[in-house]
Amino acid sequence: MSKITIAIDGYSSCGKSTLAKALASHLHYAYADSGAMYRCVTLYALRKGVIKDGSFMPEEIIKLLPKIKLSFEFNSQTKASDTFLNGENVEKEIRQMIVSENVSQVSAIHEVRVQMIAIQRELGKNGGIVMDGRDIGSNVFPDAELKIFMTSDSDIRTQRRFDEYKTKGQHVSFNDVKVNLLNRDYEDTHRKEDPLVQAQDAIVLDNSDLTREQQLEYVVKLIHDLTLSAS
Ligand code: DC
Repeated sequence: MSKITIAIDGYSSCGKSTLAKALASHLHYAYADSGAMYRCVTLYALRKGVIKDGSFMPEEIIKLLPKIKLSFEFNSQTKASDTFLNGENVEKEIRQMIVSENVSQVSAIHEVRVQMIAIQRELGKNGGIVMDGRDIGSNVFPDAELKIFMTSDSDIRTQRRFDEYKTKGQHVSFNDVKVNLLNRDYEDTHRKEDPLVQAQDAIVLDNSDLTREQQLEYVVKLIHDLTLSAS
């Protein structure tokens, strides 16, 4: 079987990118973090002062789009791609709380989605890619051979994200992390365009009680079964 496309969608902080990276490395596939792209647009808008106190005019963000160039470079230490915004490695900055607080609203803008989805489809046009996000299986790659829809208990997700912030030296409260996560879930599932929905042919993976290794093992088995059924 030739290299397939694997779409991993799900709620915020479910561990989608952890699984996607592990899977890409196991299969020698490319990995693409679609959320990082929306985060870059948000970071740029914040830097340009277009988002102030959580509010903004969508037209102002749309005007910035032609000035945003995204690129991705493999980092041999993390074994995943780093995201570059106009040539600057912003992998750390895009994970800041201020970006998380604004990204759902930015990603709901039609013009932003059109531009990001074009980049995503270009990256995945030859298959051999694991991409995670919200609408990858339902919209970006509706023909992906394998679609996973991830979910997990919200307290477990909050704890994971909270630990991540702590490790990175960012001071945030558990409650702030939880509120942000639940707000984003609400906004991402209720927006008009490409909302987070489970694709009909997606396989649900609730990883509340699974280790990283168990999740990888489970998906590798799915791919193995798929390969067998296709041969
Ligand atoms: O995966 P993440 O938490 O880094 O994503 C950040 C935001 O980007 C998420 O809250 C919604 C948006 N997003 C999207 O609209 N579509 C995607 N395919 C990926 C992310």
